[in-house]
Amino acid sequence: MKKDLISINYLSKQEIYEIFELATQLKKEQKQGKSHNDLLAGKTIAMLFEKPSLRTRMTFETGMYQLGGHAIYERLIGEKIGDRETVLDVAKNLERWVDGIVVRSFSHQNVINLAKFTNIPVINALTDLLHPCQILTDMFTILEKKGRLEGIKLAYIGDGNNVCNSWIYGAEKTGMILKIACPNGYEPSQDITANNLFISNDPEEVVKDADIVYTDAWASMGQESEKKIRNKAFQAFQVNKKLLSNASPDVLIMHCLPAHRGEEITDKVMDGPNSIVFDEAENRLHVQKAVLNLLLKN
Ligand code: CP
Repeated sequence: MKKDLISINYLSKQEIYEIFELATQLKKEQKQGKSHNDLLAGKTIAMLFEKPSLRTRMTFETGMYQLGGHAIYERLIGEKIGDRETVLDVAKNLERWVDGIVVRSFSHQNVINLAKFTNIPVINALTDLLHPCQILTDMFTILEKKGRLEGIKLAYIGDGNNVCNSWIYGAEKTGMILKIACPNGYEPSQDITANNLFISNDPEEVVKDADIVYTDAWASMGQESEKKIRNKAFQAFQVNKKLLSNASPDVLIMHCLPAHRGEEITDKVMDGPNSIVFDEAENRLHVQKAVLNLLLKN
């Protein structure tokens, strides 16, 4: 049976650690100058993106190149997958030519449907509901820094968006302790459930015993028209020195990026000694190389 990466919720803990182990090996070997270009030689992925991207596009394309394969990027502007022809027809065409599909879509259902209609692996590169590649990378980065995930306390400050939703699944799968602080009305999706879900409106309380403080944009892609109203609602949720005075001095700061400096995070925090945001960005490459290798090698 083919495997997809649609949601962390569909992965077992063992599969998550299999990705981390391979990512660790690939990262180490790459730093030592070892070539990986025999791992997916001759393989091609199609990358269908309805939304802009820096990290996801660059790391998937670079990753495929390093693995000896090829990536074809198609940016759909003003068009959604399924507009020009049905999602089924897109899926049935692509499986005749390429070995996998990486898809960034507004609609999570579109990604589920693509995976259902095709016999090649489908990787969710972000939907309005979830961002599994990001959270797998974030957990890998925390594992590198802290040596474990079980029991690590992560304070998520800000919007209950796709990143937050994927954190709920990631924390539950790995035994991390997640506390979420968001304004009233901006909580995570009610479709996302987990045991012992902790959601508060008090960011100062939530950062108190955290090992990691994590934030993301207040207005995600597609919510630009809400920016003014959101900026007002999220004022008390900025990750700044004042908020972090409530946290441990060695708390690590994460952001999936792109950052809106001066909004959800200040320059001082993002560029400060506790920030690991660019380690996190680098690891998108290593983790996604592992995912590509595990899904496409057969
Ligand atoms: N974090 C992330 O997915 O970045 P991009 O939107 O630039 O791909």
